[in-house]
Amino acid sequence: MKTIGVIGAGQMGAGIAQVAAQAGYRVLLSDVSIEQAEKGKAGIAKRLARAVDKEQVGAAEADAARDRIEPQREHAAFAEAHIVIEAATERESIKRTIFAEVGKMMQPDAILASNTSSIPITRLAQAAPDPARFMGVHFFNPVPVMKPIELIRGLATSDATVATVEAFAQSLGKIVVHANDAPGFIVNRVLLPMLNEAIFALGEGVATVRDIDAAVSLGLNHPMGPLTLADFIGLDTCLEIARVLHEGTGDPKFRPAPLLIKYVEAGWLGRKTGRGFYDYSGPEPVPTR
Ligand code: 3HC
Repeated sequence: MKTIGVIGAGQMGAGIAQVAAQAGYRVLLSDVSIEQAEKGKAGIAKRLARAVDKEQVGAAEADAARDRIEPQREHAAFAEAHIVIEAATERESIKRTIFAEVGKMMQPDAILASNTSSIPITRLAQAAPDPARFMGVHFFNPVPVMKPIELIRGLATSDATVATVEAFAQSLGKIVVHANDAPGFIVNRVLLPMLNEAIFALGEGVATVRDIDAAVSLGLNHPMGPLTLADFIGLDTCLEIARVLHEGTGDPKFRPAPLLIKYVEAGWLGRKTGRGFYDYSGPEPVPTR
């Protein structure tokens, strides 16, 4: 059985750990503390139990998937991983520190992949143990539901690394798309301007939160309105991506909306903090503007 390391047990890391475990991989899961890694596993167990209730997965299969996930206190065990996927906070300095630390543990033929949503892969590769065995593997949220995976190779990524990661992505039942190492890759290059523009429109008083979301989701047949989706992704992540697009292209069309910056400064990061463009403290989300 192949072993996959996942660094970060938040919504993306836990989702990646879940789909890998369901595909039969042994998964080593770490976060800033063993408690956080255990919390990530507990969330996965809950989602698997719900899938059993809905009769989408057999109980034995769900138990086996859950048992294949092993929360880790330290990265020493990552020496056993064939592929390590980093899904930590979307901040370059944090990712670089993680690469330096986990890089010391990894086997010389193991691959390190980052789930970064927009940081240039060629630049990040400089912090990896071997840029030839480093690439981007971008999952979408919620990972168990969303079909695509964007694969991004850096300038130094080897063909063998791409082939191994592509085979892994396909073994998860995902659809692989390839993107060049350009800011935002494909999806976030297209998505972030829409979310950012919705926040500009809100800040300029064009319409309320409820009306912007209703208009866009119903008018364009999107499953979620842009402000709901921004809260779902996390406003800090949205801001980081907007900044990467802005700085990476130098194009003012990508400048982050002032209201997005303000919300992040206020610590209103969306669902994960209980407040963003909606208040999530009650049974139903309530628009805040
Ligand atoms: N984890 C796992 N499964 C989840 C989930 C979660 N967090 N949330 C919902 N699901 C599953 C449900 O179990 C259900 O599965 P089933 O149909 O097999 O029973 C299915 O998704 C539908 O869920 P619900 O009926 O509860 O709710 P909705 O029909 O409202 O769908 C949604 C929820 C799938 C999240 C849908 O609203 C949606 O597709 N939204 C858009 C998501 C999107 O755009 N994601 C991309 C974000 S961008 C990104 O990730 C890139 C990053 O870099 C920023």
